Amino acid sequence: LQHFVNMEQLSSTDVLTLIKRAQAFKAGAPVPKLSQPVYCANLFFENSTRTHTSFEMAERKLGLTVIPFDTAHSSVSKGETLYDTALTLGAIGVDLTVIRHSQNDYYQDLLDLKPEQHLEMGIINAGDGSGQHPSQSMLDLMTIYHDFGYFRDLKVLIVGDLLNSRVARSNMQMLKKLGAKLYFAGPNYWFDAQEFGQYGQKVEVDQVIDQVDVVMLLRVQHERHEGLEQVQNFDEHEYNYLYGMNQKRYDKLKKTAIILHPGPINRGVEWDGYLVEAAKSRFVTQMENGVFMRMAMLEAVLRGRKLGGLA
Ligand code: CP
Repeated sequence: LQHFVNMEQLSSTDVLTLIKRAQAFKAGAPVPKLSQPVYCANLFFENSTRTHTSFEMAERKLGLTVIPFDTAHSSVSKGETLYDTALTLGAIGVDLTVIRHSQNDYYQDLLDLKPEQHLEMGIINAGDGSGQHPSQSMLDLMTIYHDFGYFRDLKVLIVGDLLNSRVARSNMQMLKKLGAKLYFAGPNYWFDAQEFGQYGQKVEVDQVIDQVDVVMLLRVQHERHEGLEQVQNFDEHEYNYLYGMNQKRYDKLKKTAIILHPGPINRGVEWDGYLVEAAKSRFVTQMENGVFMRMAMLEAVLRGRKLGGLA
């Protein structure tokens, strides 16, 4: 791969190859030897804990040299564009950038170059607005695959703030491609029937909770709700009652069912806090897997761009 920006670019085979590679890294497979240095920078224009730190961990484990980049103190604050920022880093010698940005599809400006533009850099998307979050989706798929060993006909319930969720978008696109059966639940104002209807069926949580294999809880993204009339009076207790993972719902789950959440969690809203580390939860496993999956993703781009002497 030259870049890793969305899930649409991947085939089912690509996904399985990346999962196997990430599993091998997790099992202790040696990292490829770089014959030349590779420089990367992580540009996080939106806050992050796990994506940022696990990309950096993955980069260091692969032997990449990480060039620190603090978006708040960069010349972006003086109005420099993302393209000019990337052009600058490329000129300095950065080979790869991992970028999180609030603008959907921000990466198109870096990929669809005009004839007069010359940007030679691998772009890895760490989340674009409500668009895509490919590394989260890949680590979610790795986590599901570890438990079940397949995707076809798995019943996956995605619950919550679907409209604003790049995690949900990335996952529903790929899970459908992989043959999973998708169900969606949550408030109607976060459900776009035209968009999500092509991937699965809207249900009430309690209609299917005892039948599904995977429950994917989504974070209520308060920072993306500004000005939305329907959520002015958002009631956390009501949300938890209607859609949250609580003891009653946990007890109804199949023995083999698992619960995912991309984090950060609003404890007591999407998920009752004392159940976050319960036996059916894969919240911590997801974060562990994130490092190994990001290693696999970075390696695929290193090989695609023949960086560090890899092919
Ligand atoms: N899941 C996720 O993207 O978490 P962070 O915002 O902490 O990176």
